[in-house]
Order: sequence, then C-alpha cells, then structure tokens
Amino acid sequence: MSFELPKLPYDYQALEPWYDAETVKLHHDKHHQTYTDNLNKAVQEAKLEGKTIESLLTAAEAIPDAFRTRIINQGGGYWNHNFFWESMTPKGGVFPAEGKFAKALIEKWKTLDAFKEAFAAKALAHFGSGWAWLVLDKNGDLQIIDTHDQASPLSQGFKALLTIDVWEHAYYLKFKNVRAEWIKSWWNIVNWEKVEARFNEATGTR
Ligand SMILES: [Fe+2]
Repeated sequence: MSFELPKLPYDYQALEPWYDAETVKLHHDKHHQTYTDNLNKAVQEAKLEGKTIESLLTAAEAIPDAFRTRIINQGGGYWNHNFFWESMTPKGGVFPAEGKFAKALIEKWKTLDAFKEAFAAKALAHFGSGWAWLVLDKNGDLQIIDTHDQASPLSQGFKALLTIDVWEHAYYLKFKNVRAEWIKSWWNIVNWEKVEARFNEATGTR
C-alpha cells in the first residue's frame, strides 16, 4: 500500500489566466510527484506502510529517529500539495455571503478585504520557501500562520482551512520573483466553498 499522487480536480489550463498551465503541470506532475515518490521510499524503508499521511504527520514521535525528518519533510510536501490543489477552483473567488464560516471570519477581521490584506502580508513576508495558511487553532479560533519548507499545520495541532504555496517553484515561471503578483492573482481562484466545507467539518457545523 503506497501513497498516490492525486489527480488534479481540474485540467492543467483550467486556472488560467490566474495560474498558468505550464506551472500547474510542472508543479503537480514533477514537484508533487517527487514528494510522493520520496515519501513512499522513506515509508517503505521505515516499514511504516499502511499508516495514513495524517497519522504520520500528527504523531511524528512514532516514526523511528532515523526516518523522522525525512518522512515529515516528504510527507508534508505530499499532504500540503494535496490540500493546495483542492484549495483552488476555476470558479473561484466567491466568498460566501452568509453562514457560520463567513460570520467567524468577518467577526475576526471585520472585512474580507482586511482578512485578505493580513493573509497576503503573511504570505509575502514569509522568508524563503514555505506556505501561508488560514487555520483553526485548538480553541477553534481562526488564525493566519505560515510554515517553513514543507512543515504542515497538522503537525502543530491546527486544522487547516486554506493555503497558498509560496515556494518559488509555485510561481516563478509566470510571476518571476514577484511573489506579491502571484498572491494577488491567486485570490481569483480560491475555492471558498471548499474552505467553508472544511470549516464546517472542523467545527461540526451543518
Ligand atoms: Fe509546491
């Protein structure tokens, strides 16, 4: 039993013009595939086959010392990218007009624009490779966090709701070194319906 690279929930070109087909293909077929292959290799060597990716990332102490860093790095790369692809949709950018998720977000940041500004600032200020996230913390409060390299919020006890990949491989072909332009473009393909569903699942909201 090994981990599989999930199929994209849309075609390579479906996120154009906001996210170019060439980058999406390379990012998914090469970068994400490599994390998947390396994770499978490490899990096999560590004789941990059969464990879910969530259990590996949330209970790292159960991984033998010699394999822990490797499995956390490759497994984070595997899980984070799965989550990232599902955070986007060609019909994106539509924030829910009502509901508990919308209410919680507006309660915390006052306006959607203020949230977007705070989230973009975190993503932009992140030094080096990594990710910016909207998460629920252990108290059920919404937080904006960033993680370095392939560290996953799962390992830190957060419930992830939304993420943007700010590794250069995520945007360099189209946006060159201008991360701010990638972030600005990405808002147009955010799958808010999915973010809301994750919120509802994490909070037991129906
Ligand atoms: Fe990536």
